[in-house]
Amino acid sequence: MAFTLDQFRLDGKVAIVTGAGGRGNSIGAAYAKGLSNAGASVVVADLNGEGAQAVAAEIVAAGGKAVGVAVDVADEASTIAMADAANAAFGGVDILINNAALMVDISYDNFETVSMDAWHKAFAVNLEGALLCSRAVIPSMRARGGGRIVNQTSGGAFPAQGLYGITKLALVGLTTSIAQQFGKDGITCNAIAPGNVTSDAGKMLVPDDSPFIQFLNMTCALRARGAPDELVGTALLLCSEAGAWITGQTIHVDGGWVLRP
Ligand SMILES: NC(=O)c1ccc[n+]([C@@H]2O[C@H](COP(=O)([O-])OP(=O)(O)OC[C@H]3O[C@@H](n4cnc5c(N)ncnc54)[C@H](O)[C@@H]3O)[C@@H](O)[C@H]2O)c1
Repeated sequence: MAFTLDQFRLDGKVAIVTGAGGRGNSIGAAYAKGLSNAGASVVVADLNGEGAQAVAAEIVAAGGKAVGVAVDVADEASTIAMADAANAAFGGVDILINNAALMVDISYDNFETVSMDAWHKAFAVNLEGALLCSRAVIPSMRARGGGRIVNQTSGGAFPAQGLYGITKLALVGLTTSIAQQFGKDGITCNAIAPGNVTSDAGKMLVPDDSPFIQFLNMTCALRARGAPDELVGTALLLCSEAGAWITGQTIHVDGGWVLRP
């Protein structure tokens, strides 16, 4: 079949985006709105249930279909309830973006002092959360003839520096493993590795005038910072028919920060 732009459309598809309701200007909210604009019905899921409902309400007000759901991605029962809510609202799940993570709220202590509680919590949310959400929806994806899973990793994993980067590098391992195990079910699994994004959380963690951003502006091929919306096109590729032959990959969307062969 000859390629047409319709292959990027998501009409009739159901997508869950985790971590999409927490902070005002967030990457998850940009993903949720972008997938809705492409035609998907969207489940906006977040630990912050009220925030999830507010983002869902924005999507509905703009003419889309969405529901907001409170979820703790680190809690298996909660992820199953999230999948059940998607089934109840829209009849199944085709797309999952595992975007929820601890980033601002993670421990940046060094390895001599980081508490093991902080360490375990970081892995519970950033790695195990993606596993639990994926396996909550894989049965529905399989029953519908396939699906798309996108894991939000980070340029901070290449190379991993500190606990946050280690959790995000481990998520790349989960990505290739899910891709391998569920490919024959028609389920793809890929990762997006953003650079420094101007979400509220990103700017809180690394202000524009920090020496790190000034350094990156000199060394990045393009520019150090991108807006949340600049990640949406890649997500759409990985979630749509246009990306049907891509799996197990990590795509860097970072202005040329992490240059990989
Ligand atoms: N902002 C950046 O520069 C940047 C760069 C690379 C990667 N990322 C990644 O992009 C994603 C979104 O980042 P953001 O900048 O929008 O940050 P954000 O803090 O706004 O988004 C993270 C969301 O995850 C939610 N969350 C945290 N723990 C949860 C849990 N247990 N269950 C459900 N939801 C939970 C939070 O409520 C929040 O809404 C994260 O995975 C982050 O690691 C961000």
